[in-house]
Amino acid sequence: MISSYVSLKRAGSNLVGLCPFHNEKSPSFTVFPATKGFYCFGCGVGGDVITFVMKAENLDYIGAITHLAKRCGMEMPENDFQKNDPNAVKKSRIYAMNRDAARFFHDMLSRPEGAAGLAYLRSRGLTDAVIRRFGLGFAPDDFHLPKPLFVDHMHRLGYTDRELEAGFLVKFSQNKRPYPLFRNRVMFPVIDTTGEVVAFGGRVMDDSKPKYLNSSDTPVFKKSRNLFALNLARHSCAERIVLCEGYMDVIAVHAAGVPCAVATLGTAITAEQAHIMARYTKEVVIAYDMDAAGRTAAEKAIRLLDSVGVKTKILKLDDAKDPDEYIRRFGADKFRLRLNDSENQFDYRCNTIISAHNLEDFNDRMACISELTKLLSTLHTDVERDIYIGRLSEKLKVSPESLKNDVVRLRKRTVKQEEKNALKKELQKSEGYGDRINPEKVGNRLAASAEEVILGILLLYPENLRGITEDTAVRRGLCEDDFMTSFNRRVFSFLREQMLQRGAFDIGYLGQSFGDDEIGRIVGMQVARSRLTKNDMDVLEEMLGVLRAEKSKRTEENSLDALRAMIERKKTAGTTGE
Ligand code: GTP
Ligand code: MN
Repeated sequence: MISSYVSLKRAGSNLVGLCPFHNEKSPSFTVFPATKGFYCFGCGVGGDVITFVMKAENLDYIGAITHLAKRCGMEMPENDFQKNDPNAVKKSRIYAMNRDAARFFHDMLSRPEGAAGLAYLRSRGLTDAVIRRFGLGFAPDDFHLPKPLFVDHMHRLGYTDRELEAGFLVKFSQNKRPYPLFRNRVMFPVIDTTGEVVAFGGRVMDDSKPKYLNSSDTPVFKKSRNLFALNLARHSCAERIVLCEGYMDVIAVHAAGVPCAVATLGTAITAEQAHIMARYTKEVVIAYDMDAAGRTAAEKAIRLLDSVGVKTKILKLDDAKDPDEYIRRFGADKFRLRLNDSENQFDYRCNTIISAHNLEDFNDRMACISELTKLLSTLHTDVERDIYIGRLSEKLKVSPESLKNDVVRLRKRTVKQEEKNALKKELQKSEGYGDRINPEKVGNRLAASAEEVILGILLLYPENLRGITEDTAVRRGLCEDDFMTSFNRRVFSFLREQMLQRGAFDIGYLGQSFGDDEIGRIVGMQVARSRLTKNDMDVLEEMLGVLRAEKSKRTEENSLDALRAMIERKKTAGTTGE
């Protein structure tokens, strides 16, 4: 399964490969056939097949299971996973509902009620073929009817008000009547990479506000994890993705014969979206608006994409505010030419610095040079630095030697600082500082390690749970109270609960109660124990001993502290008394 995403090589009893979740040159991504788990020693992600699919396909838990089931040709009974919340609206219902809603909006375009919508889309240069490819539509202005057309239609198809509300399609008036949220807007369905309609964007046709209305997060949609048109772009974006700001830009770029454009959904790009793009492409051409906001957003995109190892380029368009406008004014051919000579991010940054200074003014020129030296010192290879030093010295009219001296001096400082930071990070990691998953590890190093050993063994051999939790002649059995860090306690409780309920444990169950990162940590514990050869029950007993000793030490410390405080108080009371 995993090998269809990562090419794996055998290493002992395990398999290793290059981690698909971070950028690396030597393989630290490991698959453990024995535990059916995976773990990356480089970036710390780990889990089972389900967590893997969640990450690789950007799906939630149920989505991943469904995806896996589909691969094996099974139908998914989804009720099983929603037993705990009988009131939850089923995701499959929302998917079906969204699809029907999209169809309704689309069909409106060929009816009198939707004539205005069709006219608007045409006025923006969209052909019928493009309208169909993107499944565009129109939400009629039917607020005032006794029962809005849309609501009536959806009711007839059997969707309840609660379902419509959960999918961000209707709201309720004061007298509790449902009314559609999208009214008198042209509609852009957001379709995920599995082909499901997950959300909508709707644009007004005049200057009223808000210009765009986007679905809020729903049970099937998270804005920060989706990209508009990735469903179409994914087939032709291995070399590059064109990242736009808006729906209309994406559509115009696709229509101009560049089918690899996507957009974030009315928000700045998120780290999650950068990760998703890294999975699909090597390079992102940022085609944001040509205004100040667009430039700031581009800086952020460069930073996030850089951190996931994706090359970035900036598309500059003269005499147009965005790609859509550029294509309308100058045509598709010119746009494609532009796209092919867009600058890389380093050029872009240099040029931004240069254009912010007046090179005729001496002081300003010095300031400019100093900023550029700083930027050059962040380049990692000599070759790259030399190329830019050559180019910039010409532009700035300074000798390459002096520029180089400055850069080298600064580079040394940067390297030292980088090394220092890395060391500090390592140290803190080993001390448990900044541990988001188990923050209590900091003050309880020994106890937390003992807990992790115990959990690792129990996760591998859950049949040992009974033995270690039972009271014996010499000790009380392991229980929740023995755990000093609450994350580990949670894992223990979960394991115990599962064993009680099902009499078995599988890491696949973890997805119900733990997040991706947490599952990574838990699998890490299991992996760490899978090399253990000592008798497990003995180790368990020993670790339980460590935990109890730590606990009594802590209680002792506390009571000692209390005692000291009492003596202190007595003393001061005594002295003042005399
Ligand atoms: P057109 O004017 O139709 O060409 O759209 P545009 O894409 O050029 O619009 P703009 O640059 O103003 O906005 C870019 C993107 O930001 C849009 O596609 C929306 O996703 C989002 N956006 C714009 N206006 C609003 C708004 O009023 N509310 C919300 N939530 N999002 C908006
Ligand atoms: Mn626009």
